[in-house]
Amino acid sequence: MVLNHTTCYILPTTKNMNEQNDKMEKIISLCKRRGFIFPACEIYGGFSAAYSYGPYGAQLKKNIKDWWWKKFVEEREDIVGLDGPILLHPKIWEASGHTTGFNDALVDCKECQKRFRADHLVKELTGQDLEGNLPAMTEALTGKKCPECGKSNWTKARLISMMFKTEMNGFDGPVYLRPETAGAIFSDFKNVADSTRVKIPFGIAQIGKVFRNEIVARNFIFRLREFEQMEIEYFFDPKTDWQTIFGNWLESQEEFYLSLGLKKEDLRRFEHPKEKLSHYSKKTVDLEYNFPFGWDELSGLANRTDFDLSAQAKASGQDLSWTDSASGRKFVPHVIEPSFGLDRALLATMLAAYTEEIIKGEADKPEETRIVLKFPVKIAPVKIAIFPLLKNKPVLVEKAKAIFSELKKDFACEFDDNGNVGKRYRRQDEIGTPFCVTVDFDTVEKDDMATVRDRDTMKQERIKTSELAEYFTKKLK
Ligand code: GAP
Repeated sequence: MVLNHTTCYILPTTKNMNEQNDKMEKIISLCKRRGFIFPACEIYGGFSAAYSYGPYGAQLKKNIKDWWWKKFVEEREDIVGLDGPILLHPKIWEASGHTTGFNDALVDCKECQKRFRADHLVKELTGQDLEGNLPAMTEALTGKKCPECGKSNWTKARLISMMFKTEMNGFDGPVYLRPETAGAIFSDFKNVADSTRVKIPFGIAQIGKVFRNEIVARNFIFRLREFEQMEIEYFFDPKTDWQTIFGNWLESQEEFYLSLGLKKEDLRRFEHPKEKLSHYSKKTVDLEYNFPFGWDELSGLANRTDFDLSAQAKASGQDLSWTDSASGRKFVPHVIEPSFGLDRALLATMLAAYTEEIIKGEADKPEETRIVLKFPVKIAPVKIAIFPLLKNKPVLVEKAKAIFSELKKDFACEFDDNGNVGKRYRRQDEIGTPFCVTVDFDTVEKDDMATVRDRDTMKQERIKTSELAEYFTKKLK
């Protein structure tokens, strides 16, 4: 029996600004409702824009990480992995310039005590980009109204460190939570080079948590104080053509985002103007995504030259140069760094996958909106949901459980017997599950076939239960 309750017309939805703004609200609400992401510490009223990834969010995040690792480490011969500590020797951050130079500008409203990131506020209120120029920011805000209380009484714009400071037993002086994963890669460069068979050019990849004391965390998981990065430091001989390496990396970054389901037209490149480059960078190009709140940074790509290895070599007194085995020539490798923000990648993936479709019911049934997350199957948190048609019929439950036990050996599966099948489909659509399998009376009494329903087309087909594993291997692997 094919469970065909509705005739479906997928109507095109008009994209206007309101819809775009709504979209963020809808995603935030769906994330909470379906257990992807929720405000952390909610029982205490939340905690400063911190979020927890719930069961489906944690799985989605893991799938994105695994996919990234597969693409950039496992499938490449020139990249190896690393998993360094979060607490690193503070000398690393002195050498990299973070201890003194990793600052943002803030301004406080003296009336309502609300704190703002000064360059963002100036941009919002005057349209000017004055990042880095404290006196100009102070002047630009004179007479401008506070978006929070409407009064105009500002402190001067001033710098604040974005480093989270802590202390460690047995260590004298402050220790920092890493603000980027790159630090351990540079300090372990020699260990990796000495213990593996890497040859220049090669990369070291790392995924992990980083911490930045952002003045304002905002836009859900876009700007967080604790987030994850997926970074590669790609070392090369300064005599090689770095522009080609840089261009190839830019393409690889774009390909990766497209493989998560982002649309080409929602991605663009932004090259940092020369005068705004970080102290270590010769060229930086960000990939920006068309978020509902505007175009903003998704990832960065920078030519960091030999800045890091030279700075760490100088600070540590160690030789971090490379000797070319053929010519004996010694040089300090230069580095190109593709840096991906995992939380932003996940947010963009959710936004790209989010779809609303109008389902026109048959005869007297009213129209309804189907919300579906059309994730690429490789990253969907659940691949297959298995249902007995009715929860109170042991013969159906037993068969569905047997199928579940078999399929879960190879695929991320979920068993669901709650509510009617239509409701279970809606729930799995919102989780982004590519396939649902329903066991009905025909399965157990007649043909030993189950109904497989496709998330995107909603088409259903009957498949022999003994062939389900093979069917899904073809569809999902
Ligand atoms: N190692 C280079 C580096 O850290 P970055 O541009 O400061 O460069 C890289 O950060 C990526 O990390 C960004 O492109 C973004 O995706 C992500 N990112 C940066 N700050 C973030 C924040 N506060 N919350 C979430 N993601 C952030």
